[in-house]
Amino acid sequence: MLPPGVGQWRLSMQEVSLDIAVSADSAIVWQDERLYLLDQRLLPGREVFIECTDVQGVAQAIRAMVVRGAPAIGISAAYGIGLAVRARHLSDPLHWREVLEADYQTLAEARPTAVNLFWAIAHMRRFIASIDDTDPAARVLAEAIEIHRCDRADNRRIGEFGAGLIEGPTAVITHCNAGGLATGGWGTALGVIRSAHAQGRIHQVYADETRPWLQGARLTAWELARDAIPVKVIADSAAPARMAAGGVGWVIVGADRIAANGDVANKIGTYGLAVAARHHGVRVLVAAPTSTIDPETPSGAEIPIEQRSADEVLQYAGQRIAADAVDAWNPVFDVTPAELVDAIVTERGVIEKPNPARLAEHLAGE
Ligand code: MRU
Repeated sequence: MLPPGVGQWRLSMQEVSLDIAVSADSAIVWQDERLYLLDQRLLPGREVFIECTDVQGVAQAIRAMVVRGAPAIGISAAYGIGLAVRARHLSDPLHWREVLEADYQTLAEARPTAVNLFWAIAHMRRFIASIDDTDPAARVLAEAIEIHRCDRADNRRIGEFGAGLIEGPTAVITHCNAGGLATGGWGTALGVIRSAHAQGRIHQVYADETRPWLQGARLTAWELARDAIPVKVIADSAAPARMAAGGVGWVIVGADRIAANGDVANKIGTYGLAVAARHHGVRVLVAAPTSTIDPETPSGAEIPIEQRSADEVLQYAGQRIAADAVDAWNPVFDVTPAELVDAIVTERGVIEKPNPARLAEHLAGE
């Protein structure tokens, strides 16, 4: 099954089969010194890996949505830099650091909104500056593995902190996919949902289908069903009606970038969900690691919003559905103002009613 609306979508990368049990935690696999990405464009119909042999391949996989979700994009970029160091040091042991600049640039151009990509590039750049020339590839790749491991551990903490906010049992609505597939494992929004469900605080999840890539219908529902967490897919436009029908306590979503004032960029449709939630007295929880908070971006107005091809909305399952002369507007993220967010949950704890001072204090803490 191809994501509907993506008519020009093509598989242009080398598929490989791996001898591992595929799960929501195997979006990014580092095995035998090689990087494999689970092709999320094909889920849930096919479980196929793409091998990325160089940094260009990683950037292409990010751009093409083989790997997606802010933390997963950052982790993949960190491995990509490891692959770049391996290649650059092998071909020029004296000047490998200088030529790496082009590789950082290639990665930075892959997608603009998820700040975790730029966080990972900056982190790896600092790490590389701190090491000498003795076997740098092994050390840089070990650092990528460490970023991957930390993200998994952070998501467990986010899950526990977030679950503590939910007085259940209640139903919740989530949007897009902020699960194991979008992270190093376990998930941010789905980490909260997993922990809260295990504690009996959530009895039903409504997953917005998330037009046009259908991350909710294809990925979130797949993840939750595999964990036997009750999930129903709803059309994005059904969410306000579901809130009006009662029984929904929280909207729980991830984030691609949180500005210094607490404005949240996330998958297109999150803003409308938050507006509807406020109208219906439903609370909004944003779950994200601190690497998603961008203190350099003062407010949501300065967050670059990715625009993708019009075909993604003008086509359905590869077939054009709109008249030939018609164009489309396809921003794939929107900004939810901080005033519509009840809590931001990170691996460090909870920021209730986020504002610039509370975010700064949270980032300054250990
Ligand atoms: O376009 P995508 O699929 O990369 O968008 C993903 C989202 O919007 C997620 O909600 C966000 O990255 C958080 S993932 C933990």
